[in-house]
Amino acid sequence: MTQDLHRQNLESHLQKRGLNDDWKKWVRTNVKAGCDKNGMFKIMFDEGFDYDLIKDALSFEPVIPLDQIINPLKKDGLSQIEEIETTSPITAFIPNAERVNVDGIEFYILEDFLNAEECEYIISKTIGCLRPSTLTADDEADKYFRTSNTCDLGLLDDDMVQEIDRRICAMIGIDPAHSETLQGQHYEVGQEFKAHTDFFEENELEEFGAENGQRSYTFMIYLNDVEKGGETSFTNIGQIVSPKQGRAVIWNSLHPDGSVNHNSLHHATPVEKGSKTVITKWFRTKNGLPVFSRDENENVPNYTRVGFEKDILTKPLYQKILDFYHQNLEKQFDETAAYDLVSNVEKKPNGSSLVQLPHSLNDEIHACLKPNLEVWSGIQLEPTQVYGIRVYHNGAVLKPHRDRVKTHIISAIINVDQDVNQDWPLMIEDNYCRRHNVILKPGEVVYYEGARLSHGRLEPLDGKRYANIFCHFKPLKP
Ligand SMILES: [Fe+2]
Ligand SMILES: [Fe+2]
Repeated sequence: MTQDLHRQNLESHLQKRGLNDDWKKWVRTNVKAGCDKNGMFKIMFDEGFDYDLIKDALSFEPVIPLDQIINPLKKDGLSQIEEIETTSPITAFIPNAERVNVDGIEFYILEDFLNAEECEYIISKTIGCLRPSTLTADDEADKYFRTSNTCDLGLLDDDMVQEIDRRICAMIGIDPAHSETLQGQHYEVGQEFKAHTDFFEENELEEFGAENGQRSYTFMIYLNDVEKGGETSFTNIGQIVSPKQGRAVIWNSLHPDGSVNHNSLHHATPVEKGSKTVITKWFRTKNGLPVFSRDENENVPNYTRVGFEKDILTKPLYQKILDFYHQNLEKQFDETAAYDLVSNVEKKPNGSSLVQLPHSLNDEIHACLKPNLEVWSGIQLEPTQVYGIRVYHNGAVLKPHRDRVKTHIISAIINVDQDVNQDWPLMIEDNYCRRHNVILKPGEVVYYEGARLSHGRLEPLDGKRYANIFCHFKPLKP
C-alpha cells in the first residue's frame, strides 16, 4: 500500500469512527470539570471525529467558526491527551503532609491544619461538654487504662465544628458517610490513654463494625501545645509525636489488604504539666477497605502550600488589555460553552458572554505571567490556554468546580473591568480545604492551582458586569 493510500484509509477510518470508552470518559470528565466546550470540540475535530458525532457527544455546537478556535493541545503538537502524573488512589493523598517513612504503616504528620483561633474555639467547646471517655470491653478491667474526658463535638449544632469536620473528611478524601462522629478529648495532669490500637479486635468487630465496617484512618489534631508530657508514642515503630497546636497526625490502622496493623499501637502518655485537648475523627471501611471519594483532580499534586495568591498585573499589559476590551466590547457573543458552569439567577439564559482575544495578546499575557507563576509555584511552566475575556452579567453565579487536569494546573484570573454594586468574591478552597473569599479589583490578578482546588462564585453578581481573563499553564516536563 502506498503511503498516500494508507493515509487516506486512515483518515476515512478516523472520520467514521465512533467514540471508544476512553474518549467517552474524557468527554464526561471534562464536561463535569466545566471545560470550555469550544476547545473540546476543536480537540475532537482535530482528532478526526465526525462533526455531527462530536455535536451529539457534547450536546453542543460551537458558535465560533472551527478554524478560529484554538486547539488547547495544539501548542504541544500532541494528538493524544497527556496524563498528569497522579498519586495512587490506594492510599490517602494529603497535601502538605509529611509521609513519615516507617515500614509497614501509612503515617502522616500535617502541620498547621487548624489555626490558633480555630483551636481555641474548639477547646472551649470541648471543655463545655465533657463526659468520661468510654472503654471497649477489653479495656474495662483496668479503670486507669483511659482516664481522659470526651466531648461528642460532631453532635453540636455549631458552624465552626461542622466546618472543621467537613475539612477533615475532605483532606483525607473519604465521604463523611464512612466516618464516626467527631470527638474532642481532654487530658488533665496525670491523665493518659495507655497503649492501644484504634481498630476493632475480632471480638468487637461484630458489635461495633457490623454496620459501618472496621476502623481505617485516624485523623487526630492537637489543639494546644502542652508544657510537659502528653506525647503520642507509637511504641512498635519508635515514633513519638509531641503535641503542637494545629498539628494533625494521621494514620491507617489497617494494612493495604484490609487486615489489622499492629504497628499502629499507640499510647497517649500522661500529661505532666498543663493540659491537652485533641480532636479525633475515625474513618470506617466498606467491604473491608477505605473508600476514597476524591476525583482525579484531587490526585493532582499541590505545588504551593496554600494554593492561591493575589498579585497586581503590570500596568502596561493591563492598559493594553483594557484598551482592547473597550474597543471590542460590542463583539462579545453569548457564551453557550459556559452554560453548564455559569448560570443566572435572573433566569436569563446567558450568565456570561465572551470577548475573544487575538493570538498576539494571548501570547503576551502568557509571557507576562509565566515568570511570576514560576516563582510562585516553584516549577517551570508551559503555557496552555488563555480563555479570553468572560463578561459575567447581573445575577450570574459560577458553579464551584475544578479545572481541566491535563492543562489547567497553574492558572491566573485577571479582573479586567467591573461595574458592581458590591464586591463579587471568588471562593477558593485551599490546600487545607479551608474556604476563602478572594476579592479582585480591576488590574489585580490571582494565581491559583486551578485543577486541584475547587473554586466558584457562589453569590449572584450584584451589578452590571464583571469581566475577567483566565490564563492557564501546566508543568513543563523535563
Ligand atoms: Fe487511639
Ligand atoms: Fe475554573
